[in-house]
Amino acid sequence: MYILLAVMISYLIGSIPVGVLVARTKGINIMEHGSGNIGTTNVWRNLGPGYGLFVLALDMAKGVTAVLVGRYFGGVETELLAAFGALCGHSWSVFLRFKGGKIVATGAGVVLAISPLVTLVALVVLLTTLGISRYVSLSSMMAAITVPTAMAVLGMDRLYIIFGIILMIFVIYKHRSNIQRILSGTEYKVGKGRRI
Ligand code: G3P
Repeated sequence: MYILLAVMISYLIGSIPVGVLVARTKGINIMEHGSGNIGTTNVWRNLGPGYGLFVLALDMAKGVTAVLVGRYFGGVETELLAAFGALCGHSWSVFLRFKGGKIVATGAGVVLAISPLVTLVALVVLLTTLGISRYVSLSSMMAAITVPTAMAVLGMDRLYIIFGIILMIFVIYKHRSNIQRILSGTEYKVGKGRRI
């Protein structure tokens, strides 16, 4: 019962479409600009770094909060199911007719609340990949692959590693359009004007 409550609360928290709301303050429907994604990268791309970083912070806060909600109501299982609820909320938001984002920032918030060290390792991989490729999407996917890998190397609880694998698959699945653009050479790159 408490698990269900934690998952529902977290789903609703994850559903808050921060990027959409922030862009709306500037009169922009973010889902109709750039990649159409509601996350940090597309907000940064269209509104600049200040707005992008603001969305990053709030989307990460949703992930952190979901883990804390899960922890409040139960043990590791509840924590991870609540985290998954928030990821589903961000990805298929009840406020956006079940559309949503690519769960990178919200996932990062979840991982931060679980293990700051794993987050740090994933961040290093993300920034290194970004420096080499200039693709935010590829860097995000590489960071997602790093999460379960680092969890396994650090000998974390099996449940966390399973969660990390699910998160990794989820992130890659949500980047299907980016993968197509990378393969066709049309993906956005950091450093081309204001485009990232
Ligand atoms: O966090 C999403 C990022 O990896 C890609 O964003 O807007 O280029 O699809 P975007």
